[in-house]
Amino acid sequence: MADSTKTATLSFGDKTLELPMLSPTVGPDVIDISKLYAKGGVFTHDPGFTSTSSCESTITFIDGDKGELLHRGYPIDQLAEKSHYLEVCYLLLYGELPTAAQLEDFESRVTRHTMVHEQMMNFFRGFRRDAHPMAVMVGVVGAMSAFYHDSTDITDPWQREVASIRLLAKMPTIAAMAYKYTIGQPFEYPRNDLDYASNFLRMCFAVPAEDYEVDPILSRAMDRIFTLHADHEQNASTSTVRLASSSGANPFACIAAGIACLWGPAHGGANQACLEMLREIGSVDRIPEFIARAKDKNDPFRLMGFGHRVYKNFDPRAKVMKQSADEVLDLLGIENNPTLQVAKELEKQALEDPYFIEKKLFPNVDFYSGIILEAMGFPTSMFTPIFAVSRTVGWVSQWKEMIADPALKIGRPRQLYTGHAKRDYVDVENR
Ligand code: ACO
Repeated sequence: MADSTKTATLSFGDKTLELPMLSPTVGPDVIDISKLYAKGGVFTHDPGFTSTSSCESTITFIDGDKGELLHRGYPIDQLAEKSHYLEVCYLLLYGELPTAAQLEDFESRVTRHTMVHEQMMNFFRGFRRDAHPMAVMVGVVGAMSAFYHDSTDITDPWQREVASIRLLAKMPTIAAMAYKYTIGQPFEYPRNDLDYASNFLRMCFAVPAEDYEVDPILSRAMDRIFTLHADHEQNASTSTVRLASSSGANPFACIAAGIACLWGPAHGGANQACLEMLREIGSVDRIPEFIARAKDKNDPFRLMGFGHRVYKNFDPRAKVMKQSADEVLDLLGIENNPTLQVAKELEKQALEDPYFIEKKLFPNVDFYSGIILEAMGFPTSMFTPIFAVSRTVGWVSQWKEMIADPALKIGRPRQLYTGHAKRDYVDVENR
């Protein structure tokens, strides 16, 4: 529970209100305005929630000025280097790093839930082959509520736990199936002898005629991509999951809502958009032209993979991702990759440009992730589904935290209405 010994005074018109202030463990204090309308008859106005805390949470903390991201207190760079995705999932879901026995039990539970209901295959076949895999994922994950009725009662903690494990375990299978479906290849079943990342790579790239040998370095890079995207406190898709769940909707429907939100190019869709942009730039000599376009107020073009609502110094995930990109391309013997060259030069030129310096715009996590994924053999359309696989644990952890909170209320923002005041209906012949 946040500490609340301070107050803030708000004066407007002839009213003066004392509002409680809450102090977090780290980060800025917040003014509790939940009784503002009841006491003062006014709302606050904050489109885009740039200054609004929407919930109390113990999961993730970001210091945007320092470029720091902590999961349950642990810095992301330490987790990316020393831990692995399923251990980070345990940390996010249960609050502490697991003991060896706890980790073994957790990994075994996740591994043994990776298969999907056989009838789901028919569900996939209802989609057009050329559907974007994100469109397929929104539909299939939403449909999980029709296949797994026995874990949709959100008032039962056991069902919540089962739903969490099912989502975490089945999401890579669903993403791989969405991919296989769009390229016209048969689905590959998951395998219990492989770790989470290797299993995903194999389900994407193996075919019945030839198995896929998982390279440990590629599997480590995949695991790192999952880890770096695992959670990011109250971002747009997580807030969508929380808002959808606040009505008591089942977890599968709510995670499908999160996937839909993630798809947008200002959020998870940025990794696809970024690689497409780097390809469009094509060569380093065209970079100034694109930087000029990004700065032009009359041109809607933005540098994709640049800028962040919270990070105003650097994105700590981008640093690890850049290093990973170098390692993977090196391993695969991809020297002088033109996309990587354009990315590096674009980053350099943008970071020296007064426009980007002044607006504190830095490469975000998705500036380099696409280069790694492309080198692994993924088409751009799979980049955002992979983000969705990674972020599932964040959505689920935040959902579990919210449902268990006795202070849970349905999310229902107010508005600043600027439409017509009350007026009388006019018959059609008099309009
Ligand atoms: N290229 C050029 N200019 C930019 C960029 C960019 N990528 N990002 C922001 N700006 C400019 C804006 O035009 C604005 O300028 P102004 O003050 O003169 O109007 C200023 O910087 C502030 O930008 P906002 O859009 O107000 O900032 P906001 O916090 O709302 O947006 C966002 C953050 C959506 C990430 C934005 O930076 C963006 O669109 N970036 C490109 C898309 C992207 O990479 N998204 C991934 C985000 S990370 C993630 O989801 C994993």
